[in-house]
Amino acid sequence: MPRLLSPAAALLVGGIRTAVTAGGDDEAVAARVTRALTGHLTDPLLLDPEHREPDPNAYRQHLLHVEPDGSFSVVALVWLPGQETCIHDHVSWCVVGTYVGEEQETTYRLARGRLIPLRLNRTPQGVASYLVPPGDIHKVCNNSSSVAISIHVYGADIGLLGSSIRRRYDLPVGR
Ligand SMILES: [Fe+2]
Repeated sequence: MPRLLSPAAALLVGGIRTAVTAGGDDEAVAARVTRALTGHLTDPLLLDPEHREPDPNAYRQHLLHVEPDGSFSVVALVWLPGQETCIHDHVSWCVVGTYVGEEQETTYRLARGRLIPLRLNRTPQGVASYLVPPGDIHKVCNNSSSVAISIHVYGADIGLLGSSIRRRYDLPVGR
């Protein structure tokens, strides 16, 4: 189980809970959660030091909160320079905000067994965005020369599933 949240993180979770329970389709919920997250990304007290710890081998996930009814989960991901995800999609809507540094996201579409890059999004500190399946195939990396930390909110019980990743795509990239 995640440890007790800092007061700042508990405030964030409360804001996300309000955004999720307001209902509507995935798009509407994810857009509201994005707005709820944005205001907290500049709060220096949001993450305790142990939630900022990297892993030299791969990007590190710190589970901050799983809502008791499983309706959403909040994690902090810590990225050292050059660390990246596989190309993947998610089991649910996903909201991502950059807390420290800058993240780079590449989105893809699947065509005839290949992955065609669609967009390259750079997300600086303080900015959040969302993805809603289907069609949410992407990769995230820290292409900068300093550490990056991002807050991710998923509309699923990550504690139960272990990960928000639905599928990883080990396919050739490009036309
Ligand atoms: Fe993702």
